[in-house]
Amino acid sequence: MVSFQPTEEQELVQQTARNFALRELLPRAAERDKTEAFPLEELKKLAELGLMGVAVPEAYGGAGSDPVAYVLAISELARCCASTTVAVAVTNMAAELVCRFGSEAQRQHYVPKMVGGEAICAAFALSEPQCGSDAASLATTATKTADGWVLNGAKQWITSGDHAGVIIVWARTGEIGSSGLSTFIVEAGTPGLSIGKPEEKMGLRGSSTVALTFEDCLLPEDAMLGDPGRGFQQAMVALDGGRIGIASQALGIARAALDEAISYAKERKTFGRPIADRQAIQWMIANAGTQIDAALLLTLRAALLKAQQQPFTREAAMAKLFASEAANRICYDALQIHGGYGYTKDFVVERLYRDARVTTIYEGTSEIQRLVIGRSVVGQ
Ligand code: CAA
Repeated sequence: MVSFQPTEEQELVQQTARNFALRELLPRAAERDKTEAFPLEELKKLAELGLMGVAVPEAYGGAGSDPVAYVLAISELARCCASTTVAVAVTNMAAELVCRFGSEAQRQHYVPKMVGGEAICAAFALSEPQCGSDAASLATTATKTADGWVLNGAKQWITSGDHAGVIIVWARTGEIGSSGLSTFIVEAGTPGLSIGKPEEKMGLRGSSTVALTFEDCLLPEDAMLGDPGRGFQQAMVALDGGRIGIASQALGIARAALDEAISYAKERKTFGRPIADRQAIQWMIANAGTQIDAALLLTLRAALLKAQQQPFTREAAMAKLFASEAANRICYDALQIHGGYGYTKDFVVERLYRDARVTTIYEGTSEIQRLVIGRSVVGQ
């Protein structure tokens, strides 16, 4: 039996996220976009509220809630500031990964730092300059020595990589292909780790995105997460959950765009009547409302399956694919409803349009989501 009625606890998490986002994120979202200011203080406050580890057990510093509460919280945050939200989402994903595959000592040492504000946030370093979609072909190496593990290689597109106190890094410890990869926990400031200059991006400008370079970067012997050779599977498990997060982020952006479109359409008049009365505009709004509900239901289904510890790879891919593509369509129409004003920085919809764009790219492109869904559907 599936229920989409949030529990009291899930509603409380949602309300906490909404109140914080309206009070602390929305007023500075436009300025953050303009100045590319990283939300350091906001992330610390989000950690205090438990939102950096929504589904992380309280024993490790999280809110001890569940994946449905996570969807609700992330979409509320993204409705106000999608840039801040991606740092939150990646931290939740990384912390859940350490909870799931780490030793008890690793959980106790790293997770409270990751979700409690001490590390500010966490980063997820899988992609490399030459490989994003084909993650199994990554070239960074980790070599075992008498002193520990030595990392060499380069990572690309690392969200919050210059601010994260803890970085999860994938490296090759064995043969070519997915079975030769292992996962490592790296602390910021480890000698041999250097951070590239932040990318100047089209959207999510308050989120920093950097390259990382590892040059004979020595990690302690116990830096490996779980078993050697299981890194690829661990990354995929993390990304299944991560895709629910990006679907929720896209949902939040889409809702914000629809809100903006409706309020503008009620104010703006053509030929003596508000454009909200025009069928052409109402159809765009009807399409947006329908797609938002469909995206929410797909995302909640994936989250419910995750909460019930059932397989949800396909459902998370469907949610991410649909929500991210819908958010882009909805932002396009919302900007169209604003006419020329929507093309200026005076109107929020211009930022939402740019922020939505990356949701079909990161944590697996739409093409990769279709590949995952296609394999599963054909396999059935
Ligand atoms: N859960 C658990 N295990 C999984 C899995 C899953 N969802 N998907 C695959 N695996 C396992 C397979 O069972 C297989 O295991 P065995 O070898 O033990 O049988 C192994 O992983 C290899 O699987 P595949 O043969 O399916 O692997 P593939 O090379 O064909 O790749 C892919 C599959 C789906 C294309 C994958 O490479 C992929 O998801 N690519 C996209 C990568 C991505 O999303 N990157 C995002 C970067 S992170 C980011 O953006 C974060 C940020 O900062 C915002």
